Parts: sequence; C-alpha cells; structure tokens
Amino acid sequence: MISEFKAPIGHIQSGQTEQLLKKAAESDVISFAGALPSSALFPGAELEEAFARTMAEHSREALQYNWCEGYQPLREQIAAHMSQRGIHAAPDEILVTHGAQQALSLIAKLLVSSADTIALESPTYATAIQAFELQSRNLLDVRRDFDCLHFFMLKEALDRAQPRFLYIIPTGHNPTGGSLSAVERESLVAMTANDGCIVIEDDAYGELQYDRTEQPLKSRENTEHVFYVGSFSKILSPGLRVGWVHAQQKAIIELSRIKQAIDLQTGSLSQLMLSQYLATHPLTDHVRRCLPVYRTRRDAMAVSLRQHFPEEAMWRTPVAGFSFWIKLPDTISAEDLLPEAIAHGVAFDPGCVNFPCERKPNFMRLSFSNQEPQHIEEGIAILGKLVSSKID
Ligand SMILES: Cc1ncc(COP(=O)(O)O)c(C=O)c1O
Repeated sequence: MISEFKAPIGHIQSGQTEQLLKKAAESDVISFAGALPSSALFPGAELEEAFARTMAEHSREALQYNWCEGYQPLREQIAAHMSQRGIHAAPDEILVTHGAQQALSLIAKLLVSSADTIALESPTYATAIQAFELQSRNLLDVRRDFDCLHFFMLKEALDRAQPRFLYIIPTGHNPTGGSLSAVERESLVAMTANDGCIVIEDDAYGELQYDRTEQPLKSRENTEHVFYVGSFSKILSPGLRVGWVHAQQKAIIELSRIKQAIDLQTGSLSQLMLSQYLATHPLTDHVRRCLPVYRTRRDAMAVSLRQHFPEEAMWRTPVAGFSFWIKLPDTISAEDLLPEAIAHGVAFDPGCVNFPCERKPNFMRLSFSNQEPQHIEEGIAILGKLVSSKID
C-alpha cells in the first residue's frame, strides 16, 4: 500500500521539475543542468582497449564475484593516485564504492542513528543531503559563501549540538564553485579535531581546479578524524560508477560490512576495466587534457553572464568544479522560471534543493561543463533576457 511507505525524503527536485529536466535532457534544449562531465572528453578508445584487454586476459576474474573492499590492484592504484594529492594511504585504508554517492551513504549508515545531528554546509551538494536524510532528519546548516565557511556558526554548532559529523566540499564546492584557502583548511582541521567532530571531505572536484591549487584536508597532519571521499566520475566517466572512501582501516572494515549487506561489491567488470586503463594511461595526463577545455567553457560562461545577465543577479566565477551559482533577486523563483526557460530552449538546476534547512527559491546552478562555448553564449543570452524580463 502506498500509504504504508515511509515518508519520502525532502531534498529532491519537485516531481514537476524532475520531469521537465528529464524531457529537456532528451531534447535539443541547451542544458546547464546536472553538472555532467563533457561526454566529448571521455577517453572512449582507450577504455575500449582496456575493456578488450580485460576480457582477453582477465575474463574469469572480471566476470566473477570479487572482494567487497574492492579489486586489490585498483585499491593500490587509487592509493598511488591519492599520493599525487598529497595523501598517503595504504590500499587497506581504501574501500571501492559505486561512486562517491555510495561512499556518502555508507559513511552515514556507519556513523549516524536517527537521533544524531549532522552538520552540512549551506548550500551543498543536494544528493548528499538526500543520502544523509535517510539516516537522520536532524540537519544543521553552516553557512558557506564560495570560499568562506562561517566558522562562528560551525563553532556554535559544535558546542550546541555536537553533530555526529560535518560534511564539507572544501575544493570546487558544489554548488558555488569556490575553494577554501589553506588557512581556513588549517583552522577547520584544528577546530574539528579539538571538538571531536568527524569530517567527511568530499573531493569529487579536487582535481578540477582552474586558477590555483589547494590540497585536500586529508593531506594534512592530524586528520585521523577525516573520511576522504573520491570519485572517477568527474575526471574520467560517471558511467563506470566507481568512487572510493579513504579512512582508518578499522572504519574501512566496518564500511565494507555495510556495503556487503547492500550490494556485495562494486561491479568486477568496471573495476578491472578501470584498473587496466589506469595501468597504461596515467590519469593525470587525461585530467591535464580536460582542464583547458573546462577552463575555456567556464570563461565563456563568465563573459556571457556579464554580457547578458541583469546587474541585480549575483555570482562569483568558480575556481574549480563545473558550475556557476547565481543569486537572483528575492522576488524570482528559479523553479517557477524553469518551465519558461525550457520553452525558450534552455535548462538549468533550480537551487532550492541545495539548502539543507531553510530552502531559498531565488538561486540557480548553471553548469558549463557539458556545453560548447557557442552554446553557452547562446543559452546564457536567452536566460539573461528571461531573468531581466522578471525584474520590474
Ligand atoms: C560534490 C559531489 N559529490 C559526489 C557526487 C557523486 O559522484 P559519483 O558519480 O561518484 O557518485 C557528485 C555528483 O555530482 C558531486 O557533485
């Protein structure tokens, strides 16, 4: 009986918005929704070759069950890859997951019971809110403005509510595209360590930095309390569905037990194929090829926004990640604007779902990552005209 289902989680786009975005994705609408990596950048031929080699040389293993913690050579490759981000991890401190999304769910399942409080940046990655809400509805937000976390709010939250963990995206923050400075990272690590608060560091965009390079929290000293979450989705392909958690080995063992109960393991075929790919193609070379393309698209969107958006709208140019976060005048609801925008040929993500607690209607997220510069210019011109028409 439908009435016997548990109450649905709240932080999802409304049914109507979801349907509109799905339809838009299947049409020739210029879509700035979804923060998708550029499909033109997928290394299709190299992955095809890795797949062929996997099937020719390792088909028995690739088609068989594997260990819940992940395919051991891939765990070793991930550990080696993280060392380039300044993180020293042993392969046994890594759990391979179905994307970063599963990593977030598993950590929440491990740490949180329904009475616990979870601290999150506001705004933040919407689907993380969904994952956490399944464990506890007690969400507490800490304001994040692009490159600044409001530390006094965090301190107050730590003192008052003793949250079970703080979820944070220090680099290429989704949705704002900002990154915390080295000084802020230092303070964050010290404050959470002192107050005994676990930190979940989501580094999905950590390698997609355009202007300066910040190192992850987990690369610092005294970060045993930090769970690091990584992903191949934005830097290689989300279709592989491979991400990972790096934490102390005892936590990895517990997380593996939870994962086992949920899906036994991440797909062997994906893991072996990825491992074959990484063995012959340094990922840093691929990322180096992607960065100028994304930077060009970001810059194209920055120029177009300045040209076509009214001065009442506000934004900062992202230093990392895939999206611009636009604040519209209070009188405009981005969700209400979407059907009209799609009718004019442009789609975007309304930002209300990015707020853990009090939803604000007047924000939109515009992802530049999967659009060519000429379509960015065209789409922003249409959107700018529409937004201007709503301002008296
Ligand atoms: C900040 C952040 N974390 C995690 C994810 C999920 O990534 P994955 O595809 O690895 O599950 C996303 C996807 O958009 C994201 O933006």
